[in-house]
Amino acid sequence: MKKSILILTFLFIVALIGLNSCQKDEDPIALPTTKALVGSDKCATCHKPIYDVFVESGHPYKVMKVVNGKQPAIPFMPTAIVPDGYTWNDITYTIGGFGWKMRFIDKNGFNITQVPGSQWNPGNNSRSVYNSTIPSGTEKYTCGNCHTTGWKSVKDGGKPQDGLPGMDGEFFVGGIHCEACHGEGNVHVAAQTAKVSVPSGLNVAVDKTTALCAKCHERRFATHDLKQQTSGGWEMHRSQVEQLSTNKHNTLTCIGCHDPHASTTKDELAKGNGIKTDKTCTKCHTTSKFTTNMHYGATCVQCHMPQTVKNGISYTKYKGDAPNHNFKINTSATATYLTPDASNVVWANADKKGSTLDFVCYQCHKDADNVGGTNSMKSRAELATKAVTFHK
Ligand code: HEC
Ligand code: HEC
Ligand code: HEC
Ligand code: HEC
Ligand code: HEC
Ligand code: HEC
Ligand code: HEC
Ligand code: HEC
Repeated sequence: MKKSILILTFLFIVALIGLNSCQKDEDPIALPTTKALVGSDKCATCHKPIYDVFVESGHPYKVMKVVNGKQPAIPFMPTAIVPDGYTWNDITYTIGGFGWKMRFIDKNGFNITQVPGSQWNPGNNSRSVYNSTIPSGTEKYTCGNCHTTGWKSVKDGGKPQDGLPGMDGEFFVGGIHCEACHGEGNVHVAAQTAKVSVPSGLNVAVDKTTALCAKCHERRFATHDLKQQTSGGWEMHRSQVEQLSTNKHNTLTCIGCHDPHASTTKDELAKGNGIKTDKTCTKCHTTSKFTTNMHYGATCVQCHMPQTVKNGISYTKYKGDAPNHNFKINTSATATYLTPDASNVVWANADKKGSTLDFVCYQCHKDADNVGGTNSMKSRAELATKAVTFHK
């Protein structure tokens, strides 16, 4: 008896406390009335699974501050080598390094351009010169629109980041963070925390179109001129929109294949479920002629996205360091990918006939001069005979 009264009293007190705190919660919540950036850490509280894959992708590490003279921590990145004549103490920010190359910003906020090692390439731990004509310490950092979150250029009223004269603007945080794609999240966070609905027009946005990615992954976004640009006989990087426009995938969106939160370059982490596996393609290409493992374990991506793009380095004359989004394969025995002087890409300028067999098959096979991959030597004629048989 006594025991149950005690329990009842206890429950009554608990209920009172509960009611009391409920009343507190019902006080009108003052949500912010204008939008502002809050940072990805805030989003992590409620969107942990998304945050966890995001921090293993390249987007957030694009621009990193050097603190206490130490190389910034970028996942999966080996030890970088600083440009000749500089130590980490002379560098304020790093640009990239997650994927293909790293560049450096000096003590005054200018790009380091002309000295050996002004570009470091993690792919083979090599060093190059970023720009041989512009003296180091004179080129302003103007790249923030595509590389940072909350970029405001000096022209638009921004102040040089950290007061460094070389910085042509300011940013909230280096790298492409949640709010670079979803817009400022302060009202969303406040409303979700208080469990009230977000006032219309002040929520985060979800843009599922290619236009979102095109802001940074298309070279001439402003004019939408889709002619592929080249440099030194290679297709230039950050032209995925241009490349996709050359083939029947031009109706797909980027997120038709990509998880916008997950890494592509560190696909091996996805434990067999990554974007480079045949699953990406066979979810749409369901007919039996597109069976996997039809050519000694070659994946769809290995044949249909050859590395005809050079971002940091090239490995052979057929292999740069980034795949193209051209997908279509030209099975002619004689079509050439490059102009006779090797200065430009043929399909990009005239016809749109797809990647040629030298670039596709010599990723793995060797040409008559023993140049290419590690598999058997094959002439162009042999390749052409075989190529039309794969999906028969
Ligand atoms: C307190 C928890 C909380 C925090 C913090 C939070 N969110 Fe959310 N978010 C939610 C919930 C709950 C939903 C689902 C709401 C719904 O379906 O109406 C959501 C939905 C979303 C959506 C989808 C909206 C849509 O229209 O489909 C996006 C995008 C989003 N959040 C981004 C963010 C970003 C970016 C941040 C950080 C700036 C963030 N969230 C912080 C709880 C939170
Ligand atoms: C590169 C652009 C980009 C970045 C960066 C980004 N998102 Fe998204 N996010 C998208 C796109 C595009 C979609 C729609 C995906 C779809 O519908 O397949 C999306 C969908 C969402 C959704 C709703 C659908 C879902 O998958 O549950 C939430 C919530 C969300 N994002 C939260 C975040 C958070 C939190 C971060 C940072 C940790 C973040 N996003 C970073 C582009 C981005
Ligand atoms: C229009 C947007 C845009 C502008 C402007 C831009 N970049 Fe980039 N940058 C990108 C994108 C997108 C990538 C990722 C590579 C890709 O998509 O091919 C990239 C990649 C890089 C990388 C390699 C990153 C890595 O992890 O390997 C470096 C270094 C770099 N950019 C430096 C610069 C510098 C320096 C400037 C300014 C002089 C600049 N970029 C201007 C969009 C841009
Ligand atoms: C049909 C599927 C598909 C579509 C559509 C697609 N991608 Fe990809 N993308 C891939 C695959 C697969 C890889 C990995 C290829 C590899 O590394 O061998 C990749 C790699 C990338 C990379 C890293 C390598 C690089 O190119 O520098 C970027 C960045 C990228 N895609 C951006 C985009 C953007 C932006 C769009 C939309 C314009 C897009 N992708 C549309 C399948 C696709
Ligand atoms: C605000 C500019 C910006 C937007 C918007 C953007 N990206 Fe990127 N993206 C970059 C930059 C810069 C890099 C290079 C980051 C690095 O790896 O150092 C990059 C790298 C990538 C990579 C390779 C890095 C990795 O982790 O594998 C993929 C894949 C990619 N972007 C896909 C997309 C897709 C898909 C969208 C649209 C949903 C998108 N991006 C929107 C700027 C952007
Ligand atoms: C979201 C659906 C979808 C995904 C995912 C997809 N495709 Fe496609 N693909 C299509 C459609 C639709 C066509 C056009 C079919 C037609 O018109 O005959 C196409 C056409 C093609 C073509 C012919 C291109 C041309 O211009 O002749 C190739 C090659 C191809 N896909 C390869 C791939 C590969 C490789 C992958 C995986 C990286 C892939 N596809 C992923 C939907 C998809
Ligand atoms: C060993 C290289 C190789 C592999 C691996 C490969 N393909 Fe192909 N694929 C080709 C070639 C070469 C052509 C052009 C054939 C032609 O024009 O007769 C082609 C053509 C295509 C086409 C367009 C023509 C058609 O028949 O519709 C699609 C779609 C396609 N492949 C999808 C895939 C998919 C999906 C995978 C993975 C399951 C894949 N391919 C794997 C070499 C390959
Ligand atoms: C991912 C690597 C890879 C790619 C890409 C690739 N192959 Fe192969 N190929 C192999 C391997 C492995 C063998 C068997 C061992 C050898 O010949 O070195 C082979 C064997 C061959 C053979 C001789 C045996 C046979 O089955 O007829 C021909 C011919 C051939 N490949 C043609 C092509 C053509 C054409 C392409 C481009 C459309 C191509 N390969 C692309 C890996 C590849």
